[in-house]
Amino acid sequence: MVSRMTDSAHDKEHIYRVLYSALDIAKTEHDVDTDVLIAACLLHDIGRDKQYKDPMLCHAAEGGEMAYQYLLTIGWTEEKAARVKSAIASHRFRSDNPPESIEARILFDSDKLDAAGTLGIVRTLIYKGQVGDKLYSTDDAGNVIDGENDPDNTFFNEYKFKLENVYDRFYTARGREMAMRRKKPAEDFWDSLRGDVVEIHRRGIELLESEKLI
Ligand SMILES: [Fe+2]
Ligand SMILES: [Fe+2]
Repeated sequence: MVSRMTDSAHDKEHIYRVLYSALDIAKTEHDVDTDVLIAACLLHDIGRDKQYKDPMLCHAAEGGEMAYQYLLTIGWTEEKAARVKSAIASHRFRSDNPPESIEARILFDSDKLDAAGTLGIVRTLIYKGQVGDKLYSTDDAGNVIDGENDPDNTFFNEYKFKLENVYDRFYTARGREMAMRRKKPAEDFWDSLRGDVVEIHRRGIELLESEKLI
């Protein structure tokens, strides 16, 4: 499992945070199969390596199948292994395959908790740095684009597309409650960062124009 984790945002600690949050959420839900939930958490990003090598592949779909095959080899029943597969297959934010079972919903929420709050921002910045994406883009006049309508896969674009909207996507009451506690510090961080760079560019362009340097 750990050998499949090839970036610092999806490392061993991410897997354990997802597991720990899932166990917390499971305490507040009924009829949770703990074996299925734990296996789904530990194996949920096992397909990431395949997606890095071929970005056209979906790590959730690939990982679900890999987990299913693996669990059969260690003696799991087909029925239980299939429940793990389906939970992993539906854990992505970018997906039209919503989680249906209680274990799938808990996995989805606990994984999304790692994209909420300042932790979600830091993990995204780490990931963007590792793949060489920019922090933000500028328009033709040199002004900062705030993420929407951004032509590049910048951090600002990811914040507007995913991180800002993750709070509306929780399936369990406990997951939503945990996420909402993290929302305000993340919004403050975003407002501060965005405000600072927008001001630097705006003021710089103003100075260049006033000095007739452009
Ligand atoms: Fe994932
Ligand atoms: Fe994950």
